Amino acid sequence: MGHQHVGFGQWAERYDDGVQGRVARWFYRAVLTTDVPAGCRVLDVGCGTGRLLSLLAERGAVGSGVEIAPEMVAVARRANPQMDIRQGTAEDLPFADATSDLVVTCLAYHHLDAPERFLAEAARVLVPQGRLVVAEPRLGLLRRPLNALFRAHDHVERFGSLAEIRGDLERSGFTLVRTRARGVTGLVEVRRP
Ligand SMILES: C[S@@+](CC[C@H](N)C(=O)[O-])C[C@H]1O[C@@H](n2cnc3c(N)ncnc32)[C@H](O)[C@@H]1O
Repeated sequence: MGHQHVGFGQWAERYDDGVQGRVARWFYRAVLTTDVPAGCRVLDVGCGTGRLLSLLAERGAVGSGVEIAPEMVAVARRANPQMDIRQGTAEDLPFADATSDLVVTCLAYHHLDAPERFLAEAARVLVPQGRLVVAEPRLGLLRRPLNALFRAHDHVERFGSLAEIRGDLERSGFTLVRTRARGVTGLVEVRRP
């Protein structure tokens, strides 16, 4: 496993209006196909600038977030001053057991050092029957060469296929609710037993 991360802090102020932020909106739309009942406690892991959290709040969710890059945390808090947004990692979530009805992670899963630790943590913070939604890009033929490039540069990032991500989630004890593939957007939704 590599040791470097693609650092996002430097892009925090420009992310939403840049190419990445624009592309990310397709993925927010995918996540928003998930059932979000009013009052649903949603934790966004790797929440970046907090834009998805704002959209979830418009649906009536009670949002909270965790994000590794302090600069991103600052932007996300500014956009969502009413929310509990903490600096921390997906692999060691700074939230108590059984405090979320829904955990989402959008375009962040491929950045994780230890996805299996994140999945154990997601199960811990979810209530029984709580749901986890992982939204990731579908890169087709680009996926393997990109992963090879990350490996060659000693980066931890790795893109999984939708089937691989689904496999990770099921092996971690989650039950499949649905997968969704539209263009470059992929989504796996599972439930904690
Ligand atoms: C491509 S950005 C996506 C941001 C946001 N979720 C969105 O869809 O716009 C990936 C985010 O994950 C964060 N991140 C990377 N590794 C992380 C980790 N181990 N724990 C928490 N956040 C992480 C990065 O700092 C970055 O803000």
